[in-house]
Amino acid sequence: MINFTVDKDRCIKCGECVEDCPRSIIGFIDEYPSIIPGRAGECIQCQHCFAVCSEGAVSILGLDPDSAEAIAGNFPDPGKLATLIKGRRAVRRYLKDPIDWDTISNLLQVIAHAPTGINNRQNLFTVVDDPRVMEKIRQETMAGIIKAVEDKRIPAGLEFYSGLVDAWHAGKDVIFRGAPHMLAVSTPKNGPSPEADTLIALTSFELLAQSMGIGTLWNGLLKWAITAIVPEIRTKIGIPEDHHIGYTMVFGRPDVRYFRTAQRKLNRVNRVSF
Ligand SMILES: Cc1cc2nc3c(=O)[nH]c(=O)nc-3n(C[C@H](O)[C@H](O)[C@H](O)COP(=O)(O)O)c2cc1C
Repeated sequence: MINFTVDKDRCIKCGECVEDCPRSIIGFIDEYPSIIPGRAGECIQCQHCFAVCSEGAVSILGLDPDSAEAIAGNFPDPGKLATLIKGRRAVRRYLKDPIDWDTISNLLQVIAHAPTGINNRQNLFTVVDDPRVMEKIRQETMAGIIKAVEDKRIPAGLEFYSGLVDAWHAGKDVIFRGAPHMLAVSTPKNGPSPEADTLIALTSFELLAQSMGIGTLWNGLLKWAITAIVPEIRTKIGIPEDHHIGYTMVFGRPDVRYFRTAQRKLNRVNRVSF
């Protein structure tokens, strides 16, 4: 039940909810917007009808427009957002102090708003908030990699992990970088856009986290370790077999501060004239 309702005292019959519905399943029936009979099952629950109504007349899925967050005047300043995008850094030095669960949970609540293909919203956020759990994962992952190197079981193309093992023995944690937390975003492989859905969520997480002073690191070394070298870790941390892992990220309070943005040039644009 999508529970689409229109408050007739508020509705100004502007037709915005009708126009904006991506599935065109809303029409004017008896003067007011309504779901076209028989088409409710096509709703992708994107809430565009709810968001686009200037009067707060539309409700769907039992949502209350009066308790929804207003947008006007609340988007970030574009200059500051640009500085965030340019000033975000791959953080490879972390303090041991954990980030509290409320903060992590709030971050996840926000990135649950990231778009997914056909509003599929099947991303699974596998997060490690307890640094003791993170330490166990770190130790077991490294033990698994060490064993795979000893047994000559490292998959082709990942032979360089033997160098990471040498670094580990020398006291350098090149894979986890000493971070107290990790996040893996996965989604069913058979979804409409698993790769994009997971990477958009992680990109959103990274930007919001860094705006709050939390360091993040996209972590291919960890992803390959738990998918190709020590897959039992993937199972142990609860990522379902039928899921595509978009990527893994480690995060925590940074033990490093950056004072300026990098100076990267836009050097590859294919400006089409047709
Ligand atoms: C998909 C992806 C995977 C990455 N994997 C790792 C990794 O495993 N270890 C690491 O230290 N850095 C990793 N990085 C960080 C990149 O090296 C870093 O983003 C790049 O050097 C640019 O630096 P910046 O992020 O500070 O702009 C990864 C970045 C991306 C986007």
